Amino acid sequence: MTGHAGNGAMGTGAGLERPGDPCTILIFGAMGDLTKRKLLPSLYNLRCHGLLPKDFAIVGFARRDLDHARFRAEMTAAIRQFATRPVDDQIWADFEARIYYAKGDFGDAAAFAKLGHDLEEIALRHHTGGNLLAYLASPPDTFATVVRQLGAAGLAKQGPGRWVRVVVEKPFGRDLESALGLNTEIRGVLHENQIFRIDHYLGKETVQNLLVFRFANGIFEPIWNRRYIDHVQITVAEDLGVEGRGAFYEAAGVVRDIIQNHIFQLLCLIAMEPPSTLSAEAVRNEKVKVLEAVRLPSAEEILQQTVRGQYGDGFVGGAKVPAYRAEANVSPASKTETYAAMKLFIENWRFSGVPFYLRSGKRLAERDTGISIQFRRPPLLLFREAGVDRIDPNRLDIRIQPEEAIRISMKAKLPGPTIRLENVKLEFSYKDFGEQSPATGYERLLYDCMTGDSTLFHRADIVEAAWRIATPILDLWASLPPRDFPNYAAGSWGPAAADELLAKDGRRWVNGE
Ligand SMILES: NC(=O)c1ccc[n+]([C@@H]2O[C@H](COP(=O)([O-])OP(=O)(O)OC[C@H]3O[C@@H](n4cnc5c(N)ncnc54)[C@H](OP(=O)(O)O)[C@@H]3O)[C@@H](O)[C@H]2O)c1
Repeated sequence: MTGHAGNGAMGTGAGLERPGDPCTILIFGAMGDLTKRKLLPSLYNLRCHGLLPKDFAIVGFARRDLDHARFRAEMTAAIRQFATRPVDDQIWADFEARIYYAKGDFGDAAAFAKLGHDLEEIALRHHTGGNLLAYLASPPDTFATVVRQLGAAGLAKQGPGRWVRVVVEKPFGRDLESALGLNTEIRGVLHENQIFRIDHYLGKETVQNLLVFRFANGIFEPIWNRRYIDHVQITVAEDLGVEGRGAFYEAAGVVRDIIQNHIFQLLCLIAMEPPSTLSAEAVRNEKVKVLEAVRLPSAEEILQQTVRGQYGDGFVGGAKVPAYRAEANVSPASKTETYAAMKLFIENWRFSGVPFYLRSGKRLAERDTGISIQFRRPPLLLFREAGVDRIDPNRLDIRIQPEEAIRISMKAKLPGPTIRLENVKLEFSYKDFGEQSPATGYERLLYDCMTGDSTLFHRADIVEAAWRIATPILDLWASLPPRDFPNYAAGSWGPAAADELLAKDGRRWVNGE
């Protein structure tokens, strides 16, 4: 299967075989952390895999006073620091010679007019045919301005055989209203099929494997429903704190940073119906149906079915770490949640009545991202006479981080004359595929932009549907400020109330098992 231009067929691993279309990659915010740590190393990796087009150029746009040579020196220093593989001098020399700098402020129309002239010249020099991939690696409050400026300078216009695509970073809005506003702004300039709202979680191998796992293996489909599944847990646990990004985190919190986007996407991949094809539109049609089927909890249900938390000081990996409120650029009275857990229901024929427990937090006991699907218990306890009065149900664990693996827990008889049951695991680990090429996780997504495959990017209605679920929760929380923060110790598995959320349903979280 190829990830080919326009039709958006999602590659299933073997798909990355032809280089992307010739193009200029224009990065707004090119002196920032994202460009240096992720975008540049990813583009370099694509070049090493032969997946960058032969004809390409990179233009960095930022406001510092640099020329091409000084910007190239900055990028050379960045690739030496952040490359995920040894840098080959010959490849880098060719790569570096294709890098250009454009100085300007996003508010300055004249800078965009000059950028237009520069892009024309660069397109001719590098035979890119005028294709333009613009990447908004800039602060979220600049997205609308940059797109407006691109439009006003005539840089968003496509022509016959010439595309313009714009990658929009996260966060996409901070609630439903701002997301609707941003969609309106950028769709005033760009067609939906030119907009690539990126979610780097969807670039991860195991996440892409969810579709393959569900729809290329016939044995799971018959049991993938309310008759066999007891409940689903989705966890994104981080052991890190805010890592110097206190100011950003204060304005975000874990629901905006992780749950509204990454966790809701995992929810879609687990709960969606089989699409009729793997085209971008077919896959995204099914995803949005999941979010639209999530029952919006009432205010009372929000209070009963959600938990928020903030870490105090504690120990992570044996080292003492400070409380969230003691981090740099964080208010000593901060009410920002660094942990959230919630129980949601998807009201459709497949999953009606099956609880989906979602949680994410910082400074938890382990870095652990995964999905656990707990099946129902066997209907009869046949082994009671042999002293077995409780059988743990089967569980399917899809581990995403740090290990990438799929595991099924089952019961087996211990060898011996009596019946004794033991938990055993059937396991597939991504390591079994042998050495993986080191990557940043952005390679697949950048490549898909160059081939026009938007399957792994958010469509406007998906973003809006996700905010429609998250916004009432955030609004209610904002109207009732928490009185017990901090309410979990760094290095623990979160607030006690999150354990109670499952305990009152007779269940428990799968913690790093
Ligand atoms: N860093 C990550 O790992 C990460 C992960 C996920 C999403 N993101 C998203 O990616 C985007 C970039 O993040 P980042 O961490 O790279 O941010 P950053 O380090 O703050 O870099 C932002 C860049 O934008 C430039 N900039 C800001 N305002 C400008 C203006 N008015 N005119 C011209 N240039 C301007 C800055 O220029 P100066 O250097 O002159 O200030 C800087 O080069 C953000 O939307 C962020 O939410 C980042």
